[in-house]
Amino acid sequence: MSTDLKRRVGETAADLVSSGMTLGLGTGSTATWFVQGVGERLRDGRLKDVMGVPTSRATEAQCRELAIPMVDLPAGGVDLAVDGMDEVTDGLDAIKGLGGALLREKIVAEAATEFVLIGDLSKRVDRLGQRSPIPVEVVPFGVARTEQRLKDLGLEPVLRGGPLEPQLTDNGNPILDCRAPEPFDATWLDAALHAIPGVVEHGLFVGMARAALVASDAEVVRLERPA
Ligand code: A5P
Repeated sequence: MSTDLKRRVGETAADLVSSGMTLGLGTGSTATWFVQGVGERLRDGRLKDVMGVPTSRATEAQCRELAIPMVDLPAGGVDLAVDGMDEVTDGLDAIKGLGGALLREKIVAEAATEFVLIGDLSKRVDRLGQRSPIPVEVVPFGVARTEQRLKDLGLEPVLRGGPLEPQLTDNGNPILDCRAPEPFDATWLDAALHAIPGVVEHGLFVGMARAALVASDAEVVRLERPA
């Protein structure tokens, strides 16, 4: 996806923010433009009294640079969360987490009154798993067993970074990227993954997004979750 499309869709999402809001601030090369847009609006006075809940250390660092006030996730949640996506269907189910921030992203998305995904047309798919693996964050203890349980579900897990230098998330956990060779029922797989004790969280975001902003060269289209 070109930087221009990422910037445009991030800017469009920044226009959704009103003064006084507490925001969930996503992670990744698209969400960074949303965060940038919020920072600019705070600086030039278009927005005031906005607080951000960053979903990763990287986003936290960006907030610090842009002087966006940060707050721990309030018990009452956030007004609006905006984040990138790796895949989205027309029903607004999504895969996220290729950037490794899926756990904090999901905690914040679940706590949002409105959760909006942003990305370009290449992220739109007919079925989840078509292009992207499903990232699954797991506890380091018993990884081989967790891997086997994922295989039992028909998935093909690969340890991100490889066994010699596994990449760890901000929470200190490895990620198993799981290809799904067969079409699957996302609601069923969501529950089946949560039933595995070694799984911390996974990158299927089922029924969570209220809207998705999808950028193409011609326009930014807003998709709404079907009623
Ligand atoms: C971060 O963990 C991810 O969920 C990202 O939001 C997602 O991978 C999209 O990233 P890009 O905007 O960089 O494609």
